[in-house]
Amino acid sequence: MGRGIGYAKTIFFGEHFVVYGIPAIGIGLSKKIEVEIEKSSYMKIESNHADANLLKGIEAIKTAIKVQDNFIVKIKSEIPMRSGLGSSAAISVAFVRAISDEYKLNLSDEQISSYAYESEKIYHGTPSGTDNTLATFGGAIIFQKREGGNLITPLKIGKPFHIVIGNTDKRKSSTSEIIAAVKSRKEKNPEIYEYFFNAEKKIIEFAIKAIEYGNLEELGELMNLNHGILSAIGVSSKENEDIVQTARNMDALGAKITGAGCGGSCVILAKNEKNAEEIANEIKKMGYFVISAMVQ
Ligand code: MEV
Repeated sequence: MGRGIGYAKTIFFGEHFVVYGIPAIGIGLSKKIEVEIEKSSYMKIESNHADANLLKGIEAIKTAIKVQDNFIVKIKSEIPMRSGLGSSAAISVAFVRAISDEYKLNLSDEQISSYAYESEKIYHGTPSGTDNTLATFGGAIIFQKREGGNLITPLKIGKPFHIVIGNTDKRKSSTSEIIAAVKSRKEKNPEIYEYFFNAEKKIIEFAIKAIEYGNLEELGELMNLNHGILSAIGVSSKENEDIVQTARNMDALGAKITGAGCGGSCVILAKNEKNAEEIANEIKKMGYFVISAMVQ
């Protein structure tokens, strides 16, 4: 029997643009997915997540690691699927770790993340690699997709801050469909999208400084700007806007979509712990799943 764990994540800044090589800021969360594998004569997944691609993703990892055995794969998850919180990457990472445990492979975190990326490609088409990186390493990072090796830089947190994540559980499209829709809109309006890309680059550059220097007011402003761009490229929804507006009306420093959007989740930067609690309660009242975290 082998066991492994993968963590949830929030993309704080840079979702979608990261697919095209712009750096993203990601934060690992403590919510996790646990995978347990037991050798069997056939492959079977036991999970409360119905997802047709789950088995395909797991097979892709087996092929990459050159494992021919079959398993009963038990998935225990604290992360909702299609939530923008990296559930598929967390499953992939947990499965690779379970394989490493079963066969005593002693895989390094770099190897774990890179095998997990094989199934991310099945789930998401052309993923950036941010999700599997955060699901493996956790922490706060700057992630940049690059030919010949992604650039992963740990991010220093100048002043701890409180985030609240509201998950709408209302996503009809998959991440790969949303990425493809953004690509097609970008191809229709390349000049305008160039402005969005340049603005996003600046937002990330300033957000890194705001996080490092603990300038939380500025960080919140930048989240609001980033959300505006995500709405402009067509990845917001009524539910996303409801959460963002509710949080802003309650004096949050900033609020935006996190992850692929079109439903999924929003991340909110609260003023302080009390403000975070109040916002979390309000979003729960709206009927949504909430995760609160202190980033330090
Ligand atoms: C999905 O969590 C985030 C996207 O930027 C896709 C990716 O980075 O692979 C939309």
